[in-house]
Amino acid sequence: MNGRIAVLISGSGSNLQALLDACNDGVIPGRIIRVISNRDDAFGLERARRAGVSTSTIRHTDHSDRAAFDAAVAERLDADGTDLVVLAGFMRILTSGFVSHYTGRMINIHPSLLPDYRGLNTHERALSDGVQRHGCTVHFVVPELDAGPAVVQGTVPVYPDDTPQQLQQRVHAQEHRVYPLAVRWFVQGRLALDGEHATLDGVPLHSPLRIAPEDPLPE
Ligand code: GRF
Repeated sequence: MNGRIAVLISGSGSNLQALLDACNDGVIPGRIIRVISNRDDAFGLERARRAGVSTSTIRHTDHSDRAAFDAAVAERLDADGTDLVVLAGFMRILTSGFVSHYTGRMINIHPSLLPDYRGLNTHERALSDGVQRHGCTVHFVVPELDAGPAVVQGTVPVYPDDTPQQLQQRVHAQEHRVYPLAVRWFVQGRLALDGEHATLDGVPLHSPLRIAPEDPLPE
């Protein structure tokens, strides 16, 4: 089992909540051992405390540069014996040294169907392009931003009169389904990174699994 999970957040932590619930319900056969935030005011810290999970605030503003901040985070993660680092709305760019240290054991969720719309303001950009489907992607983290091997995508329809907020909410609902799924697979030892590809049950994923709102979740 790869069951010791740390979650890194900067904000609301609704994905963290979905992961806490999935651990609590036994859907994920692991434990969130710590939540780390770079901001004191992240509501996710409160969610962690309510769930009885240890929290650390490691302020980027207390460190001289990115490398020093990342070293402080890595020290905490390694002291905890962390198996999996889950980025869930963590709004800091990580150094390549940090990313390399956690290669194959750090995942992120991004609010678009990667490789489309890397970066910020994904919902606004999808709407202004008039796309018909949008969604989220769980991927292994590599040094290049929003570029690592993808595992699973939650898709949603886009309606002509959607506001960015409506679209964001629809995507969020899918994030809360697919992120616990990917974490479960990792903890079960079924999901791994093998070079350029994620593998599930030993089979390379040449493209991510795609799950629509009406689809049941796979085993
Ligand atoms: C999510 O949209 C996620 O895709 C992105 O950051 C947001 C975090 O939301 N990486 P929350 O803090 O989990 O509610």
